[in-house]
Amino acid sequence: MLNTSFLDALNGKPTAHTPIWLMRQAGRYLPEYLKTRQTAGSFMSLAQNPALATEVTLQPLDRYNLDAAILFSDILTIPDAMGLGLSFEQGEGPKFSHPLKTEESIINLNNADMHKLQYVFDAVSSIKKALNNRLPLIGFSGSPFTLACYMTEGGGSRNNFEFTRLLMYKRPDLFHRLLAINTNSIIDYLEQQILAGIDAFMLFDTWGGLLAEQNYLDFSLKYMEHIINVLKLKYPHIPCIVFTKGGGVWLPHLAKLHNINAIGVDWTIDIGRARQILNENTDSKQKYITLQGNLDPLILLSTPEQIELSAISMLNNYYKVNNNLTSYIANLGHGISQYTNPEHVEVYINTIKNISGKLISSHK
Ligand code: CP3
Repeated sequence: MLNTSFLDALNGKPTAHTPIWLMRQAGRYLPEYLKTRQTAGSFMSLAQNPALATEVTLQPLDRYNLDAAILFSDILTIPDAMGLGLSFEQGEGPKFSHPLKTEESIINLNNADMHKLQYVFDAVSSIKKALNNRLPLIGFSGSPFTLACYMTEGGGSRNNFEFTRLLMYKRPDLFHRLLAINTNSIIDYLEQQILAGIDAFMLFDTWGGLLAEQNYLDFSLKYMEHIINVLKLKYPHIPCIVFTKGGGVWLPHLAKLHNINAIGVDWTIDIGRARQILNENTDSKQKYITLQGNLDPLILLSTPEQIELSAISMLNNYYKVNNNLTSYIANLGHGISQYTNPEHVEVYINTIKNISGKLISSHK
């Protein structure tokens, strides 16, 4: 591997600068992405074509000095392979033609057929080949709870997934059944991504932050922990990252996951405080947990001056607690907005590289 900074940071090893990648780094803010998507016809036909998925995965890497690639796909491929019928309407977000609205539909749900997801594993092999060991490749899945949100609601939600959360309160038995099916499918899905060549995996728990604390532990974290424990037993060398949006308040719980390599945080928590909470809640037998995050993606829509100031203060806040800047991966606190100016992205990435490089070499 030519650039090992991302994997080094995940393994707690020192790096010359803070590695950086961005959630949704391949996407609609890039004109070259829009062009490829037009060729493909739709988001799903783009994701299902390994050659085109490879092309868009590499697009941000050709533009920017990034330290990791992320598989171009979506978290909703699993429910699609379970037969829920995924489509993305223009400007409307995801939609399922067969959402889980009845007890019967959940009782009859089966594990996702991995043959139907072969296009994802083919994309992984194709991207790995194209990367030619230039950068590591991140694979991913949604969390069991976040997938359940879309599967029961039928798409996105304007009311904090009330249908989903009410189902959880009214029929916890049925909801646990759904989460268990998702968990098994996610394990199979990530295992196939590992066999196809990914270098690390990330669980996106985008909606875990909607839950009350005990419900987060019982309906989201417990299942993510199981996935990580099963995969780590078989593939101890593949690092993992867990991202719960809104999960900053639960860092003491996340810190207790013994097999975790990194925790992604959104912008609502100061990154230095997040470091401190992790340090205070891990015991000496445990490995040092890496942090990933957490600039508010909206800042990229402001001015280059503001982006620079915010990036520097983020690094300084982490540095105040961890003065060698190890175990840190810079990212955004959530996915990049489609309205982002591509030049602003460059300002963010270059600021992180330059300033962290100076801070680290001044520490030596
Ligand atoms: O990070 C990357 O570059 C890799 C690709 C990636 C996509 N989606 C591509 C995508 C990843 C990692 C995801 C994860 C994903 N998908 C999540 C978890 C992370 C998060 O953002 O919270 C979620 C909740 C989804 C579900 C999903 N997919 C939604 C809600 C939407 C529509 C959102 C929107 O911005 O309109 C998608 C579509 C999607 N997935 C797009 C991309 C580039 C835009 C679709 C398009 O090109 O038309």
